[in-house]
Amino acid sequence: MAERETWTTRLGFILAAVGSAVGLGNIWRFPFLAADSGGGAFLVVYLIAILIVGIPALLAEFVIGRRANVDAIGAFREIGKGNWRFIGAVGVLASFWTLSYYSVIGGWVFRYVFGSATGSALAEPEAYFGAVSVGSSSVLTHIVFMAITIGVVAFGIERGIELATKFMVPSIVVLLLGLAAYAFTLPNAAPGYEFLFNPDFGTISSNLAQIIPAATGQALFSLSVGFSVMITYASYLGEDDSLGADGLTIAVTNTFIGILAGMVVLPLLFAGGLSVGAAGGGGPGAVFVAIPIALGDFPSLIGQIIGIVFFFVVLIAALSSAISLLEAPVAYVVDEFGVPRMQATAGIGGSAFVLGIPSAWDTAWLTWFDGLGVALLLPITVLFVVIFVGWILGDDAIDEIKKGMGGDSFGTVWLWSLRTFVLLAVVVVFLLNIHDLFFTVDEGTYIIPPPLQ
Ligand code: ALA
Repeated sequence: MAERETWTTRLGFILAAVGSAVGLGNIWRFPFLAADSGGGAFLVVYLIAILIVGIPALLAEFVIGRRANVDAIGAFREIGKGNWRFIGAVGVLASFWTLSYYSVIGGWVFRYVFGSATGSALAEPEAYFGAVSVGSSSVLTHIVFMAITIGVVAFGIERGIELATKFMVPSIVVLLLGLAAYAFTLPNAAPGYEFLFNPDFGTISSNLAQIIPAATGQALFSLSVGFSVMITYASYLGEDDSLGADGLTIAVTNTFIGILAGMVVLPLLFAGGLSVGAAGGGGPGAVFVAIPIALGDFPSLIGQIIGIVFFFVVLIAALSSAISLLEAPVAYVVDEFGVPRMQATAGIGGSAFVLGIPSAWDTAWLTWFDGLGVALLLPITVLFVVIFVGWILGDDAIDEIKKGMGGDSFGTVWLWSLRTFVLLAVVVVFLLNIHDLFFTVDEGTYIIPPPLQ
């Protein structure tokens, strides 16, 4: 079998991991979850969740991946004592599951770049979204987005993912900074910032049971933790990288980009005269309807240009995440069964496309896939990853995280945090999610599939 690939540079790994993290989660999910859950209040809980659960769990996935140097399911066989492979399997399922509907949204974004250029997306936003987000039109753009994703992953780590993300991530940052600078000049942008940065602690305390799982789920989704993606990416790493420093860099960059996206989206909405209530209500269509409505109020050429740039940024961000969601299952098939990468990528990408057809056809399915994945698959994987690294790997995990970094204290503190408050937080979130899924009838996260609801 050909030798397993590795990242050519440390920066290559960091950019690929940032590319995986920064995606629809930051630009599509975050601003609207925030709008839904009290703006700054949501941001505060989200930041705490990133710190308490997101970063320690991200490092746990890195440790597993680098120690095993194989795909995410094989990793648990290589370093697990006893049969822990099911954790890897749930994680790989989570990435495959998420990719299926992620590609549908990516397809819409692709369509919106052109819709902004011609102006049709901005003329009658609701009608436009209604036309492109369902049925054969949505299936078609889903094919296009998935084909591009397959095209990148088929070229492998070095010539595919590393090369692509080297261009994608800096472009995202530069374009978002440009958009944020423009948003800053808009009249009425200030209420947008105020909404984002002025936490209403009353909202936090009265909605804690709803905000905590939503913010933690968002932290995991956004850092790509729980999908086996970070295990897979770290498996292509050398021993001399500092997992702690790289993990912090990735988490900080991702959070910074998330906030930057909020600083673009919210001022745009406020300047466009939209109340947050109109933008909120969540739902997969929110960003696709509210932003064009806001842009429709601008002089038409400016609205079109901002629309093209905005949706282009979302497109690259979505693509750099989708390739990581495809890489996790592809690595499994390549490493475990020796299937050539080209065939593995086409086969798995094609199957994820088929699984995504219901989401492309009807957005009720998309909401159901998103709800179940984020509320069930991610917390299950993260719960067991934390238990596995904290209690089964134990001191071996400290040895692994020390490589390329030295010193004992960081690893010890991190391991004890996994064993105590990280575990506690994940259990609480898991139980709140289970309660939400099974004991409340809440559209979107309800466990019964749409046709039976
Ligand atoms: N981490 C990816 C995102 O935020 C999945 O979109």
